[in-house]
Amino acid sequence: MSELKNDRFLRALLKQPVDTTPIWIMRQAGRYLPEYRATRARAGSFMDLCKNPELACEVTLQPLERYALDAAILFSDILTVPDAMGLGLYFAEGEGPRFTNPVQSMADIEKIGIPDPEGELQYVMNAVRTIRRELDGRVPLIGFTGSPWTLATYMVEGSSSKEFAKVKGMLYDNPKALHLLLDKLADSIILYLNAQIAAGAQAAMIFDTWGGSLTPATYREFSLRYMQKIVDGVTRENDGRKVPVILFTKGGAQWLEPMADTGCDGLGLDWTINIADARARVGDKVALQGNMDPCVLYASPEVIRQQVADILASYGQGSGHVFNLGHGIHQHINPENVAVLVDAVHELGRQYHA
Ligand code: CP3
Repeated sequence: MSELKNDRFLRALLKQPVDTTPIWIMRQAGRYLPEYRATRARAGSFMDLCKNPELACEVTLQPLERYALDAAILFSDILTVPDAMGLGLYFAEGEGPRFTNPVQSMADIEKIGIPDPEGELQYVMNAVRTIRRELDGRVPLIGFTGSPWTLATYMVEGSSSKEFAKVKGMLYDNPKALHLLLDKLADSIILYLNAQIAAGAQAAMIFDTWGGSLTPATYREFSLRYMQKIVDGVTRENDGRKVPVILFTKGGAQWLEPMADTGCDGLGLDWTINIADARARVGDKVALQGNMDPCVLYASPEVIRQQVADILASYGQGSGHVFNLGHGIHQHINPENVAVLVDAVHELGRQYHA
């Protein structure tokens, strides 16, 4: 494998010195880019795009051609794992993800198997290998997974949800069934992430998009506990370099301390907390990633630069900050504003790494 030419992202996650603050953007390969929409149209459906390693590689690299981003993220989806478990994933145009066979009972859950990452999910590993080859050491490649809890919400609800009536109903009414499902998901995810790392992923991120819908007690029992199991089971070294693990619970600012105590390397932050407060609470244990409100990108270049300046100043001096949005970039953002963001982070970030 070729030498990594830009390792700012990996260094910042390990709180090693950097020349300036690194940045990548959640959903950086996505519908706000016209070239993404063109490749997506050629591929067919979104899942056809995910399952085609050459095209998945093409869209992974598109944002890197436009912007000086410090990391690439595998183009895929968190729902590949439940799909490989036999739930029948599809995306109804404009309505988000759906499953033909949602999981509704203990009997359904008992039938679920652990997918073979180099079997049903081999298309993901092939995408990782293709992307690493084409990246040629420009920047590191991030692999990812959904958290067990977040995947369970889609598997039990059968689609996106606002109230989580079915899955939270199961949590209170049949916790044994939900625990069995979460355990199978955690085991599947450990194999899945370790296969991504063996195929070339240089960091791993766990998206707990819906952990914030839980109570403090149920968050620990049904989400954090299974992320802990994953942190403990993931291979943390590859090619003689540490593979950092980032946990991101959207809406999880109140749980930063127990999240940091899992032994992960970095925590993702949404925009509901000042990064200065987060650093004061957990900055001696972990690096922080975030935390600009994605809606800032609807504003003018002047406002974007000011918001970047404020977040960088809030984190303050020294390494340990990976700039990002607090959640995925929206599809109606002007791509020119993303260039303003990336350049502002690199330019204004230097003063904090003297
Ligand atoms: O960040 C990246 O650039 C990597 C790619 C990535 C996608 N999804 C591509 C995608 C990643 C990391 C994800 C993770 C993901 N997928 C999450 C966790 C992160 C988050 O956003 O909270 C979740 C909850 C999903 C499930 C999912 N997939 C949803 C809710 C949707 C949106 C459906 C819609 O139509 O708005 C998707 C589809 C999806 N995943 C798209 C992309 C670029 C858009 C699909 C398209 O091209 O039509």
